[in-house]
Amino acid sequence: MTTRTIGVALLGLGNVGGGVVKLLEANAAAIEARLGARLVVRTVVVRDPDKGNRVVDVDRSLLTTDLEAALARPDVDIVCELMGGTTLARTAVLAAIAHKRHVVTANKALLAEHGAEVFTAAEHAGVDVYYEAAVCGGVPIIRVLREGLASDRIEAIHGIVNGTSNYILSTMTETRRPFADILKEAQDLGYAEADPTLDIGGGDAAHKLAILVNLCFGTTVDVHAISTEGIDVVDPIDLGYAEKFGYVIKPLVIARAHGEEADSPIEARVHAALIPNNWLLADVSGAKNAVYVQSYALGPSMYYGAGAGMLPTAMAVVSDMIEISRNMFARAGAHAAPRPRPAVARPLIPLSDIKTQYYLRFGVSDQPGVLGQLMTILGAHGVSIAQVVQDGARGETVGPVWVVVLTHIAREGNVRAALGDIDQLPFVREPARVIRIAGR
Ligand SMILES: NC(=O)c1ccc[n+]([C@@H]2O[C@H](COP(=O)([O-])OP(=O)(O)OC[C@H]3O[C@@H](n4cnc5c(N)ncnc54)[C@H](OP(=O)(O)O)[C@@H]3O)[C@@H](O)[C@H]2O)c1
Repeated sequence: MTTRTIGVALLGLGNVGGGVVKLLEANAAAIEARLGARLVVRTVVVRDPDKGNRVVDVDRSLLTTDLEAALARPDVDIVCELMGGTTLARTAVLAAIAHKRHVVTANKALLAEHGAEVFTAAEHAGVDVYYEAAVCGGVPIIRVLREGLASDRIEAIHGIVNGTSNYILSTMTETRRPFADILKEAQDLGYAEADPTLDIGGGDAAHKLAILVNLCFGTTVDVHAISTEGIDVVDPIDLGYAEKFGYVIKPLVIARAHGEEADSPIEARVHAALIPNNWLLADVSGAKNAVYVQSYALGPSMYYGAGAGMLPTAMAVVSDMIEISRNMFARAGAHAAPRPRPAVARPLIPLSDIKTQYYLRFGVSDQPGVLGQLMTILGAHGVSIAQVVQDGARGETVGPVWVVVLTHIAREGNVRAALGDIDQLPFVREPARVIRIAGR
């Protein structure tokens, strides 16, 4: 009996594309045994076929710059978009769908920005779009949410989904060196991009959160409406105070349903947060990723592993190819709904209305009565205090002394209003540092 084959077109042969070729070779026998078929790369679209030093050696005759011809090949069943970006990637994915090819992509930016268009086109064409590698690289969180927890109701998720930000904050925590130094070091080591804006500014995490929100809460959120803050607000001073209070600071994505109804509002935000150091997420360090899911029936569960890298990401891509192949063999095709249909649009709670605890660090002159005035203004805005630490006198020449406050749960709008008043006071030497506190 001849072995069945599934033809694959790879769009991109960089880190992930190269990893896919490597993994298909290294695990060929196991994949064939599990699938009962071989996955065969028919063609690879690249920008420059003559580029040297690729991560894998590929038969030169497979390389092409002709995207349209690659998509039209009759021996291609699955198109793997591994180029990145949102312009050509969008055109390529929509064209692949128009050619009735199933699609695998690792591209979170594409799905966060154009997901609705892509999934609608796929549904009409009756093809699958799989995207496990787009969130947390090799950690199979998409499959967990789509399948493992398909019968559950997700209440909240807390995730560490950007390895670069986690690496930087973890290293800052260990060494107490400043953000800029660690970022430079991460760039030199190849852990951070030359332009790190998307990673450290929270944009990459927001793309991933938009995808997670869709899977968890069955609604589409505008990625630009997600409150997104970078990790560059964190100073080694804050890491020291966090430790004193029993916390660590992590780059988090948070999403939560407010109410049990299908149309009840949700909150979604990206920012660095203090988390209790006895929480599982506190141990997710270095470039690792994790998502902590709170769901109605299962309760808490956490998914942890490598959120990027050649082989971990390629593993997720190839597993998607296997899943699509199984759908093809079962003739399930479009029945394998790529993601929930948004039955109702769920409103996003404005940041000013979210309620959480806050870490506030005030830089003030060392003079009597300061603490009392800070407390009075916070109290007047309904912000009550859980803990306070006041630095000893350091003398005017060395700069401000710190008053650090942990609040009870308060409304963000009230905290901001209080800080607006406090920042006007004559003894305030620099604007208050605000970091939200997250807990289970
Ligand atoms: N790297 C990771 O760990 C990781 C993890 C999760 C998800 N992802 C996602 O996976 C995707 C790929 O990432 P990567 O790190 O593999 O990127 P990469 O190393 O920069 O590779 C990009 C590949 O796409 C090709 N390409 C780019 N523009 C092209 C164009 N206009 N026409 C034809 N080919 C083009 C390049 O061709 P040349 O080689 O000829 O330049 C290269 O082979 C991105 O969406 C990324 O967000 C990456």
